[in-house]
Amino acid sequence: MVITRESSDGDIYDTSESEDLCKGVKQLSENGLHRVPSKFILPVSDRPDTNVEDQNVVTSNLIQLPIIDFAELLGPNRPQVLHSLSHACEQYGFFQLVNHGIPDDVVRRMMDVCRRFFDLPYEERARYMTTDVEAPVRYGTSYSPTRDTVFCWRDFLKLLCHPLPDFLPHWPSSPLDFQKEAATYAERTRYLFLTLVGAILESLGLGIEGPNKDEREQEEVEDILKGFQDGSQMIVANYYPPCPEPELTLGIPPHSDYGFLSLLIQGEVEGLQIQHQAQWVTVRPVPNTFVVNLGDHLEIFSNGKYKSVLHRALVNAANSRISVVSLHSLPFTHTVRPSSKLVSEKNPKLYKDTSFGDFIEYLSTKEPKGKEFLDSRKLS
Ligand code: OGA
Ligand code: NI
Repeated sequence: MVITRESSDGDIYDTSESEDLCKGVKQLSENGLHRVPSKFILPVSDRPDTNVEDQNVVTSNLIQLPIIDFAELLGPNRPQVLHSLSHACEQYGFFQLVNHGIPDDVVRRMMDVCRRFFDLPYEERARYMTTDVEAPVRYGTSYSPTRDTVFCWRDFLKLLCHPLPDFLPHWPSSPLDFQKEAATYAERTRYLFLTLVGAILESLGLGIEGPNKDEREQEEVEDILKGFQDGSQMIVANYYPPCPEPELTLGIPPHSDYGFLSLLIQGEVEGLQIQHQAQWVTVRPVPNTFVVNLGDHLEIFSNGKYKSVLHRALVNAANSRISVVSLHSLPFTHTVRPSSKLVSEKNPKLYKDTSFGDFIEYLSTKEPKGKEFLDSRKLS
């Protein structure tokens, strides 16, 4: 199939084979395009700047996320930090994690090795292209390449991370230091997740210790924490090349993340937006911090007390942008259900028990959009 697009000045825009589109947007961007192919053009209502007056969304409408100090969480001020954490989770679904204890150079080297992966010749990257969603490593383009009706302006590399010895040998062997840097990063973020998720359970009143814990509750908490020890982890490196018409498309469309928690790092280039109080607002990159957001599983587990929040990524004409997201949840074989502690006569169960299989089945029939998967798990 040949894709054409007529420009406003009557110029017939260069034809691209659809196979070329599947090679990814880095490829397109390097071909020196002046316009985006029609496959990437969103309907007007979905374009990035339609619900703000100022066209220059990226530098207006900034949001200051709540700041959680990880070092303080582990110290004598834990009760206050748990209180802030609970507020951040309820009001924002996002927070900024500072003093997280992962050395700056571990983060910097991970960003750097991912950038060098995307800089490899296409043929090298293409070795990891697959439609198998359970593959240990997956390179591709857009959001859900087999389902998207409109493509988005991103290439990605996804790595399954746990148990590490099972997956590491399958990860890209080029750049030569890729496996080493990514493994270090995976282990450090995993530790961070385990500590954070424990604190989040505690902020929901589900600590391991404490007064008035009945046996059933104790068991439930221990079970889920044990689940997290063996839990799934996937690292996604996103590459958003410069885009000639950033106002017509998105790097990643509005979505919520699937698991319990996501830990994101971005370079210096802005792009991440979250939905807050019915507005799209930009999360400005802050060096040496993680942006942490709650996923669908945490919304289900908390029986809706905490919510996963829609977010998206804008692209821009001047710079490429890279982000690395570490997604954490229970093992793929586990079922996620509202915590019995958070279900009562007054607070009825709001979500169906949900497994990874349910998600895969959903994806096989529908284009992933917004929070539609989670909506399909609601008990009405
Ligand atoms: C994601 C995501 C946002 C970004 O990969 O799930 O939301 O800023 N990325 O790249
Ligand atoms: Ni996301």
